[in-house]
Amino acid sequence: MKLLVVGGGGREHAIIRCLKKNPAVEVIYALPGNGGIAADAVCVPIGATDIDKIAAFAVENKIDYAVVAPDDPLVLGCVDALEAKGIPCFGPRANAAIIEGSKVFSKNLMKKYGIPTARYEVFDDMDAALSYLDTAPIPTVIKADGLALGKGVIIANTREEAKTAVRDMMQGHIFGKSGDHIVIEEFLTGPEVSVLSFTDGKVVKPMVSSMDHKRAGDGDTGLNTGGMGTVAPNPYYTQEVAKQCMEEIFLPTIAAMNAEGRTFKGCLYFGLMITPDGPKVIEYNCRFGDPETQVVLPLLESDLLTIMRSCTNGTLADTEVKFSHRHACCVITASQGYPVSYKKGFPITMTEEAAAHTYVAGAKLEDGRLLTSGGRVTGTTAVADSLEEAIREAYRISHGVQFENAYRRSDIGARALAARKDK
Ligand code: AMP
Ligand code: GLY
Repeated sequence: MKLLVVGGGGREHAIIRCLKKNPAVEVIYALPGNGGIAADAVCVPIGATDIDKIAAFAVENKIDYAVVAPDDPLVLGCVDALEAKGIPCFGPRANAAIIEGSKVFSKNLMKKYGIPTARYEVFDDMDAALSYLDTAPIPTVIKADGLALGKGVIIANTREEAKTAVRDMMQGHIFGKSGDHIVIEEFLTGPEVSVLSFTDGKVVKPMVSSMDHKRAGDGDTGLNTGGMGTVAPNPYYTQEVAKQCMEEIFLPTIAAMNAEGRTFKGCLYFGLMITPDGPKVIEYNCRFGDPETQVVLPLLESDLLTIMRSCTNGTLADTEVKFSHRHACCVITASQGYPVSYKKGFPITMTEEAAAHTYVAGAKLEDGRLLTSGGRVTGTTAVADSLEEAIREAYRISHGVQFENAYRRSDIGARALAARKDK
């Protein structure tokens, strides 16, 4: 089979490595991929949002199956475009990807169908938003409606901060059109859990839970990033919580999307907060999370391609989705200064052991040399029988990835370890 994967980060590298385990796979094209993915796939310089070119490439190269991984091509209708050319795809159509593409849509969906989430108000008028903030409970959370490169959420600890965020979004257009509509919502507390799930629009099969580490600095300090590391499973996601999530969140969400005529097929990501009142949805993503995928897929024991195709064909109920009971930890190695400003173009070296455990996110090939080209450069994952050992091994192996100005958090997994000891 000839496969195509749209995207070019660590998540896509993890997906490609996992797909390659199926012996029926002859070739995988990555559009655009990156310098590190080139070791596992044929990288083609077509951008992930260049939808017409992606569809034309798929036809010309007689692609049997395509996986669209990032949010923006999904929201822009990449799956619709490929399907129109007769190419079967993993991923939601645009009318379902809106569950991530519009926070106003997803909040209204949850309210309409009684899915637990933070209380909220929607505004498209700045003055109305500002006067609401005169009496809103503080802290409060301001969210731009549309995609904003993961930066469209501001947690305001004072009224002034909240008003500044509203002005920045609605008047300063710091997130472009994404800020024309905003959501102002209740600040929730509790541990966060990421649950990625497979769905064919009929049944939902959750993957092993995970914990992201979004802040740049140790002890969860510093700016929000795309994620500095992950562990799986997440100790806060007990069997009891999992059962509650299935009944109150996962199945109702699939049913709600069907009732709206927006059947969701693909990977639906539930960003959850385990609040004192039970699990609530913080956000939906219409795709695999990154770096969650880099810690979840190494624990998958069933065949990824078979599962993905069953999501497309509507046969997920009859398809095995089995995860190992072991533990995994992924440590991101980033460019010093990420997420603000950082230098690029440093040569990367990896030991053989590191290369085998490392997914590449931000690197390009130049004259046969691998050079840093992004903020998050690599993700190194280890799987072990205990969480302690997975963390120790991920760190040990990650030191085999070297480049100038490399930066890692030193405490990935520490919170998960502490949570387990609390119990
Ligand atoms: P997002 O960009 O949607 O992933 O949100 C970024 C982060 O903001 C989340 O991972 C949470 O830590 C935090 N967050 C979002 N919504 C809320 C909320 N209602 N209450 C508390 N924290 C929130
Ligand atoms: N790690 C969070 C995300 O992929 O959005």
